[in-house]
Order: sequence, then structure tokens, then C-alpha cells
Amino acid sequence: MATATRPRSRSRSTRRFGVDIGGSGIKAAPVDLRSGTLIDERIRIETPSPATPDAVVDVVVELVERFGWNGPVGCAFPGVVKEGTVLTAVNLHDEWRGVDADALLTERLGMDVHMLNDADAAGLAEVRYGAAKDRDGVVLLVTLGTGLGTALFVDGHLVPNTELGHIEMHGQDAETLASERARIEGDLSWKKWAKLLDEFLGHMEAFVNPDLIVLGGGGAKKADRFLPLLHRTCDVVPAALLNDAGIVGAAMEAGQA
Ligand code: BGC
Repeated sequence: MATATRPRSRSRSTRRFGVDIGGSGIKAAPVDLRSGTLIDERIRIETPSPATPDAVVDVVVELVERFGWNGPVGCAFPGVVKEGTVLTAVNLHDEWRGVDADALLTERLGMDVHMLNDADAAGLAEVRYGAAKDRDGVVLLVTLGTGLGTALFVDGHLVPNTELGHIEMHGQDAETLASERARIEGDLSWKKWAKLLDEFLGHMEAFVNPDLIVLGGGGAKKADRFLPLLHRTCDVVPAALLNDAGIVGAAMEAGQA
């Protein structure tokens, strides 16, 4: 747990605060936007159950307070978010639908807060600092976690809220077959799960013809176990920022409401 320096924002500072709300954990840290790195060790708190807006906002407030942060906050969220309003929250609680999260969090924290989709946040970080840096063309980031998130970029520009992880595969939501959670909860071997992931990525190749696929999220930490089992024609690489990408991407959006 982090206790060291307690960074405060300064005007025109390159420091921002990023929060990554996930289906199993909520993580946060201050970020240096010049390098795209965490300034302090991140803190993770289990996602409350049920993950209602009130319960999750309490955790976000606790995280911001634990860092003594006072300045713009960016927040990555596992669902569709349009102009700060949550439209879907498959792996959290239905009460989130229709919530103006920017307004709710800005009021609770008394600081400027902006929310965006978590895969989009991770993608923004990978495009600016990580595995997709300086890559033109079509780049697709796929996050492997509780859900199966996607972020689509064309020449570095984000097409937000793509939600391609919910395409149908074998009559099911692809997320329930090819996410990291599906591998763990289904006790699938790397080979079995890689086949499902490969099938999903095959659909992605057919739909959006990416020049590069970046695999991120917690599941990508063990990329060496399954990358050699994939048979894609485009480049497929693990994310460089891995589990920090959501926090960094959220911080990049802080102050952008
Ligand atoms: C959500 C996406 C999210 C992904 C990863 C999916 O269930 O619909 O919005 O990006 O999970 O958290």
C-alpha cells in the first residue's frame, strides 16, 4: 500500500489522478503525464458487492482521500460512458444506467471528475505511451479481465465505446467465453481458452481489419502462455502498461469534462 509522497496538483502541472473501476477491484494512483507513469504506488480496493453507484463512489472518494489528492480526476469505468453519463454496466450494478457520473463524482469530491470507458482509457494510454505508440492505421486494444473490453483507434484517434467484446459466439456473449474471468471460472487450460480467444480475435480481424491488436488487462500479464497459440495474420502484441493502462488513460482524461 502506498503511503510515501502525497502529490498535490499544481496549476499547469503535468500530474493528474487516475481511477480504474473494475468488476473485481478499484485501483487508483497519481500519474505523471509526461512519462505516463505512476508517481506513487497504486492502491487497490475490492469492488463492493453489490456495486451500486453509492457504494462504488464511496470507494473512489476513499482512494482520492488516501492519496490526499486535490485536483482533476479521471475515472475509467467498465461500461459505455457518453459525455460522463453511464449507459451500461454489465459487470457492476444496473442502478448505474443513466447516472451522470461526472456530476455525481464532481459533487462528492468537490473536484473536477471525468469518466470514460475502461478499455478506451487503457487504449489511450497504450497509444500515447505503450505498445501502440506511433502506430498509424487501425489499432484494436482488447482488455482481458472480468469483461472483454475493446478500444478502436484509427491513426491514433479513438472511436469510443465500441463494445465488441459482446459479439455473439457459439450463441453466447463472447465475453462469457473469452475473457480472463471465463478462463479462471471455467478452469480452462491455456490451450482451450487460447482457442476461444483466437476465435474472438479472428472475428475482430474480419470486422475491423486491424493492423495491430494489443492485448491488455490483467490477463495479458501471462501473454507468454497464450500468445504463441494464436493464429492471427495481423500483429498481436501484449500491452506495455498492462494493469496500469486504465489508471494512466483515466488520468489523461482528467480535466477533459
Ligand atoms: C463492458 C465494457 C468494458 C469491458 C471491460 C464489458 O463487459 O461492456 O464496457 O470495457 O467489460 O471492463
